[in-house]
This record gives sequence, structure tokens and C-alpha cells, in this order.
Amino acid sequence: MTERETENETEHEIDQRHFRDVLGHFPTGVTVVTSSGQEGPVGITIGSFTSVSLDPPLVAWLPTRDSGTWAQIREQGHFCVNVLAHDQDWLSNKMAGTGDDKFAEVEFEEGPTGAPRLKGAVAWLDCEIEAVHEAGDHDIVVGRVKHLEVADSEAPPLIFHRGKYRTVS
Ligand SMILES: Cc1cc2nc3c(=O)[nH]c(=O)nc-3n(C[C@H](O)[C@H](O)[C@H](O)COP(=O)(O)O)c2cc1C
Repeated sequence: MTERETENETEHEIDQRHFRDVLGHFPTGVTVVTSSGQEGPVGITIGSFTSVSLDPPLVAWLPTRDSGTWAQIREQGHFCVNVLAHDQDWLSNKMAGTGDDKFAEVEFEEGPTGAPRLKGAVAWLDCEIEAVHEAGDHDIVVGRVKHLEVADSEAPPLIFHRGKYRTVS
């Protein structure tokens, strides 16, 4: 794309594929946000997780407004952020699916808020929903951290970059 085309885009409308492609150059870690739903555990793969504030301890993540899993997490009022390890790309794919059986063959323990802590994750952060802000087609979910733990400080994390899973060496 030429400089001129890029200028034209900002003057009019940003092409969604171009938006995704450019943003895909920013690497993220991969988390699964879980909660205890009405009919069993629920989970969703989230790359938009970030720390927000140290005092009070706040974190945030951004689900699409029409996510069924987010609606269930919101109802519960609490969630656990599971930071995935390098060998959990299968779990990321599973929790990014739309099936009802996301937790089939997934090992977990109940954390202190009741939300599942996934086995093999690098770290867990158990949170209560502090605030929800609308932002375009997504919500910004701010969570107050209640408990947090590193499960395996040696395990390399899972990274998502330009549409591929990677890790750090
Ligand atoms: C690596 C990765 C990161 C993702 N990050 C987000 C994210 O930050 N926000 C979001 O809404 N969806 C994200 N997704 C997509 C959701 O996981 C996916 O749409 C999921 O199926 C929604 O679940 P639901 O249909 O049960 O609500 C990501 C998917 C992958 C594979």
C-alpha cells in the first residue's frame, strides 16, 4: 500500500482486513478468561489482556459485545485470567471455538472465586468485575485482582503474532 492510499483510507474508511493486518504486527500473549457459568465452566481466548493499575490492582481485557461467553462471565461478576504456556495452542484454539463442549478433556481446578484455573497455565489472576466500558463493537472489562499466582515461572508463554502462535526463546 502506498503512502497516498494510506492517507486516503484515514480520510474515508479504514479497510478491516488492513486494520487486522497492521494490528497483527503487534505481538500479544494469549490468555483464556474463565468463569463458573450457570451450566458449568465457561472460557474464551483473549489476546487483549493488559495490566491497568497497581493501586488498586486492576487489569483489563476486551471481548466483542456479542460474545455469548462474555455475557455469561458478566452475569457471574468474576473471572480468572489464565496465561497460556507455549504448548497450549490447542487450548487457545479450543476456547476460541464456538462449541458447547469447550471444557471437554480440559483439566482445571476451581480457584478462590470459583472460576476455573486451567492446568498447565503459566499464571492465574482471579478477579471481580470492577467496571465495563463500551468501546465500539467491543467492551473494555476492568477487573479488580483478588488473588494471583505464578504456576510455573520456567514455562515459556504462548505468543500470537501475525496470525501465528510463537513463543519466546
Ligand atoms: C489468539 C487469540 C486471541 C483472541 N483475542 C480476542 C480478544 O481479545 N477479544 C475477543 O473478543 N476475541 C478474541 N479472540 C476470539 C475469541 O476467542 C472467539 O471469538 C471466541 O470464539 C468467542 O467465544 P464465544 O463465541 O463463546 O463468545 C481471540 C482468538 C484467538 C485465537
